[in-house]
Amino acid sequence: MPRFISATPDSRLIPLPWETPLAEWPVELLVALPRGLSRHVVRFIKVGDDVYAAKEVIDHLARHEYRLLHDLMRLGTPSVEPIGIITERGVCGGVPLDPILITRHLQFSLPYRALFAPGVRPETVSRLLDAMVVLLARLHLIGFQWGDVSLSNILFRRDADTFAAYLVDAETGGMYPKLSDGQRHQDLEIARTNLYGDFLDLKAGGLLQEDLDPLQLVDLVQSRYYELWQELTGAEEFSGDQMGRIENRVRRLNALGFDIAELDIQTAADSSTIRIQPMVVDAGHHSRRLMRLTGLDTEENQARRILNDLDTYRWRTGQQHVDEAVAAHDWLTHVFQPVMDLVPADLRAKREPAQIFHEVLDYRWYAAQRQSRDVPMTEAAQGYVQDVLRCLPDEALNTESLLPIESRQLVNPYDPSQGYVEPGQTPPQDPWEDGVDQVAVASPFLDIDALRAKAAAEAAD
Ligand SMILES: Nc1ncnc2c1ncn2[C@@H]1O[C@H](COP(=O)(O)OP(=O)(O)O)[C@@H](O)[C@H]1O
Ligand SMILES: [Mg+2]
Repeated sequence: MPRFISATPDSRLIPLPWETPLAEWPVELLVALPRGLSRHVVRFIKVGDDVYAAKEVIDHLARHEYRLLHDLMRLGTPSVEPIGIITERGVCGGVPLDPILITRHLQFSLPYRALFAPGVRPETVSRLLDAMVVLLARLHLIGFQWGDVSLSNILFRRDADTFAAYLVDAETGGMYPKLSDGQRHQDLEIARTNLYGDFLDLKAGGLLQEDLDPLQLVDLVQSRYYELWQELTGAEEFSGDQMGRIENRVRRLNALGFDIAELDIQTAADSSTIRIQPMVVDAGHHSRRLMRLTGLDTEENQARRILNDLDTYRWRTGQQHVDEAVAAHDWLTHVFQPVMDLVPADLRAKREPAQIFHEVLDYRWYAAQRQSRDVPMTEAAQGYVQDVLRCLPDEALNTESLLPIESRQLVNPYDPSQGYVEPGQTPPQDPWEDGVDQVAVASPFLDIDALRAKAAAEAAD
């Protein structure tokens, strides 16, 4: 009898066919959504209106990943949400079935293959790199060493004009009170190797522009990471008459989206020099402020943009002296909500509300430039819905896009993420699932057979 370990149990999961290997689950229970490459069997399963990701993985790794994802969530780090582990699934063909780790499908998330598919522009690549760098720095700040940074282990969500990156695969990670420089360098070395391979792969598939060089891209990731890390944690020394530099440092960090929780300030006995060093920094400066004022849960750059609009509204309506929270409530009911009310229900799966609002602001700006006049928000929202939103693909992957996958032929019925067979098309190869034997194993902790043997040996002891 299968056993469930979960902090947030969903009873609808209990009757699913856990005694069957995940790769053999009936397709009616699965949904075809784009995803990155995986070493394990990974499937998206649909329960009512919810979608979960299920990964068949050996026992101690499933538990390890579940706990780590839980810690990451508790610390507010962008990662997928762990739902539970199903163990004791019985025996199949004489071999005990590995546990299944369940995470909640991250709504509005885009695996890199979906982002790169339409032939991505260099600016977009640059923004994706920045999002990755911020994620890595955030993980390192809380003492998380990832051990397996790669494009397949990151999910992206739109964040105003940029992206926010989420961790999806924590299996190789470890949580420490504080990371040493060596541990961080190691993560960057792994990132370099994996990302270089990922970019070469995209290039070979014609998905990366010719002038984008994989080697330059990984160099950029590395140099941007070290710049950001220096800004977040580096010490600064200046003479006692330059006190303003303390405030400048705080402002610079805020502009990067971080808050200083502890700043160490040391002054020389004669006050001639001052040394400052941020000791604890928290990400989410703007999103926290917006959450406090309006209750809206957004990404960092969406929050930045919305806060600007809120400040402008306050000024335009002469509410500079009104309490900020009161003005924010006024803005919510008179600006934000009316825009959301103009979005027809059938188009809501296309973008998150905060992203829609950001795009309406952009639309209004361009309309105002074109027509040399002030365009009211409601007019801009109507125009945006008509001209932009209707034409966009769904990104929520909500119930409407989760039709059962029976009528068309899948490339691989056990792996819906490979899509449907098109006439005259050769099925794409997923090296991790199609020919595991031919794949050179880059690192010992990626070798599942070795892990299995080790676990068996440990169990026998
Ligand atoms: N909760 C989730 N939400 C969205 N996508 C997911 C989720 N979990 C896994 N995926 C997708 O499945 C892929 C493989 O999952 P991952 O945990 O990386 O497996 P593996 O350990 O075998 O590499 C990821 O690249 C990602 O695209
Ligand atoms: Mg992975």
